[in-house]
Amino acid sequence: MKFFMANWKMHKTVQEALEFLKDFIPSVQGISDREIGIAPAFVCIDSMSKALRDTDIKVGAQNVFYENKGAYTGEVSPVMLKDLNIDYVIIGHSERRKYFHETDEIINLKIKATMSENLNVIFCIGETLEERESEKTFDVLKKQIEKGLENIEKYDSLVLAYEPVWAIGTGKVASELQIEEAHAFIKNRLKDIYSDKADRIRILYGGSVSPENIHSIMNIANVDGVLVGGASLDPEKFLKIIKYEERK
Ligand code: 13P
Repeated sequence: MKFFMANWKMHKTVQEALEFLKDFIPSVQGISDREIGIAPAFVCIDSMSKALRDTDIKVGAQNVFYENKGAYTGEVSPVMLKDLNIDYVIIGHSERRKYFHETDEIINLKIKATMSENLNVIFCIGETLEERESEKTFDVLKKQIEKGLENIEKYDSLVLAYEPVWAIGTGKVASELQIEEAHAFIKNRLKDIYSDKADRIRILYGGSVSPENIHSIMNIANVDGVLVGGASLDPEKFLKIIKYEERK
């Protein structure tokens, strides 16, 4: 099923998040042919998860730690997230890699710990502008996939997200050819690891997705949905993205 996931990053208080849902819940009622989710800040998860209990809208977290308890000041564990009835955890986002120095090894530990609690993972990968310009894109993606997914067998709980770092929050969406090439490459690396079962792993695109470009993005081969930052903060814009066929 096509997947439309909002990553709210460090935006919205609990009150603002619930305000968003007031408009958003009725507008997506009855949509059953695609999966919709929102990953708010940690502090909003409990209220959002309760507010969405009787809907099909999924809740996600934007990060997690790889231990379930202990002296790790400021961290949140997979068990704690599971307790809030969430469905997804975004792991390996480029902002986590850049500002919080998350390595492929840390990301691998986080994926394992999250899957052990039977939560689904949205595993983010993508190259920087410098890496693209020096023609290292595919080497970078290969390394991120191989290291991030080392010894991970639960492909059923896995979603990949290709987010070229230079396209995030910049308004510079990757070209159709760049997205197509990257998604085909990711699919093939997943096949190397999971053989035919890789077809069950959805690959999302993320980076400056908007109501204006969503239609062409969704028509690219191997794009199974999108991970949306800025445009998902506005219920009307996110709805237009979800109902992308209505805007050709
Ligand atoms: P933007 O949609 O704001 O570019 O952010 C993309 C992103 O990082 C989603 O995880």
